[in-house]
Amino acid sequence: MTKICCIGAGYVGGPTCAVIAYKCPNVQVTIVDLNQARIDAWNSGNLPIYEPGLDEVVFACRGKNLFFSTEVDKAIVEADLIFVSVNTPTKKSGIGAGFAADLAYVESATRRIAQVATSSKIVIEKSTVPCRTAESMRTILEANSHDGIRFDILSNPEFLAEGTAVPDLMKPDRVLIGSLQTPEGIKAQQALAAVYANWVPKEKIITMNLWSSELSKLAANALLAQRISSINALSAICEATGADVDEVAYACGLDTRIGPKFLKASVGFGGSCFQKDILNLVYLSESLHLPEVAAYWKQVVDMNEYQKSRFSQRIVKRLFNTITNKNITVFGFAFKKNTGDTRESAAITLVNYFLQERANISIYDPKVDDDQIRADITELAPVEAFEKQIKVVHDPYQAAKGADAIVVLTEWDEFKTLNYEQIYAGMNKPAFIFDGRLILDSKKLRDIGFQVEVIGKTL
Ligand code: NAI
Repeated sequence: MTKICCIGAGYVGGPTCAVIAYKCPNVQVTIVDLNQARIDAWNSGNLPIYEPGLDEVVFACRGKNLFFSTEVDKAIVEADLIFVSVNTPTKKSGIGAGFAADLAYVESATRRIAQVATSSKIVIEKSTVPCRTAESMRTILEANSHDGIRFDILSNPEFLAEGTAVPDLMKPDRVLIGSLQTPEGIKAQQALAAVYANWVPKEKIITMNLWSSELSKLAANALLAQRISSINALSAICEATGADVDEVAYACGLDTRIGPKFLKASVGFGGSCFQKDILNLVYLSESLHLPEVAAYWKQVVDMNEYQKSRFSQRIVKRLFNTITNKNITVFGFAFKKNTGDTRESAAITLVNYFLQERANISIYDPKVDDDQIRADITELAPVEAFEKQIKVVHDPYQAAKGADAIVVLTEWDEFKTLNYEQIYAGMNKPAFIFDGRLILDSKKLRDIGFQVEVIGKTL
C-alpha cells in the first residue's frame, strides 16, 4: 500500500489529501500539523474549515485510509510520498519584507524530513513558492540526510479555489507535476501521476520541468488577479460615464478570446493567495533585475487597494460626507462566498476604514466565527474600538435593525433572497444599500425605497 504524508493541515493540505484518500482506497494518507487544535478539529465532527462537500469526503474515509495527527516524525518515517503544504505568507520583516514569500515553514518542514527519514522519499512541493525553491529544498535534504537515502523533489502546485475546493479537486482543469528531467526525476513524476490517475484523466495530468511548474502557479494567480483588477479599473470608468460594468463585462466576455469567467467587478479581491503571490512575483522580477516587469504586476495589487478605498469613499460621500456615529451594517466578512476564510478579506479593510471614521458597525457573516472577526479587526485597531463600535450579530435582520446603511462585502447567495421589505422597515431613513458585489436586484430595492449604490453602475 502506498503511504502518503501531508505536512500542513490547512485549507490546501486538508482538502487535497482528503480527496486523495477518498479517490484512492489503496493509498493510506496521514495529514499532520504542529497545531494541535487544528488536528483535533479535523478529528472531530466540526472540521476546522468550511468547504461545501468536504464533510462527506472526510467522514467517508477518516479512520480507514485517512488520518489526522500531530505525530509529524512518525508520518514522515512511514511515508513514500510527502506533500509539503505549509503556509508561505508574505515576509513581514527583513530582506524582501512586504513582498517576498516567507519560506521559514517550508524550510523547517524540509529539515524535519531530512532529519527523521530512514528511507528514500519523494518530496512534493504543494505550497506556492518562488521559482527555484525546489533547488533549496534539495540542497537542504541532501546536506542533512542519512547515508543511502535518496530524495526526489517534485513541484505539484495546487489550483483549487476556496469555496469550490472539493469539486475543483474532484474534477481539476489540470494537475501539474514538475520534476528534474533526469531518469530519477521522471520516475518520481510518474509515481505521483499514478496517484492522480486514480480519478484524473491522463490528458489532464501535465508534466514539465520543475521551474516551469513553480512559475506556472504564480503566473496563473497573477493572471486571474489581473482580470479582476482590469474589470475593477473599468468599473471606475463606468461610474464616471454612466456605463454599466455588468453589461461591459458581458459584451467583452462573449469574445471567445476573452471568455466570460472572472470578469465580475467587486470591492476588490481578497484571500490568502492573490496578493501574496503577485507580490512574490514582483519580488522575483526585481531580484532578476526586471523593474518594468515588477512595476507591471505591482499595479494589479495597487488597483485592488484603490478599488477598496474608492468604494469606502463613495459610501461616506453618499452618507452626506460623514459616517461618524452612524450605524453601518456589514453583510459578509469572508473574502468570498462559501468559505469561512477571512485572510486579506476586503471587509477587514473597509471595517477598519469605517472605524476610523467613528461609525458604529454591526457585522453579519453566515460562516465566520466571532473570534476570527475580532482577531482580524483588533490586529489593525485597538481592542477598545472593537468593544465600543463593533457588534458581531448572527442574524441579518437583527444586524440591519436601526442601520443607516448596509454594505454588502461578500457575495453570499443568501443575501439575494433576504426579505428586504422587512429590513427596510427597521432601518433609519433614508436607508442606503451599497452593493460591493453586484449581487442584489437594485431595481427591486429602489422600489422598496432604498437608496442603492452599486460598484460600476450609476443607476
Ligand atoms: P494554512 O495556513 O491554512 O495551512 C498551513 C498549515 O501548515 C498550518 O496549519 C500550519 O500549522 C502548518 N505548518 C506550518 N509549518 C509546519 C511544520 N513545520 N510542520 C507541520 N505543520 C506545519 O495555509 P493554506 O491556505 O493551506 O496554504 C498552504 C500553501 O498552499 C500556501 O503556500 C498557499 O500559498 C498555497 N495555496 C493556497 C490556496 C488556498 O486557497 N488557500 C490555494 C492554492 C495554494
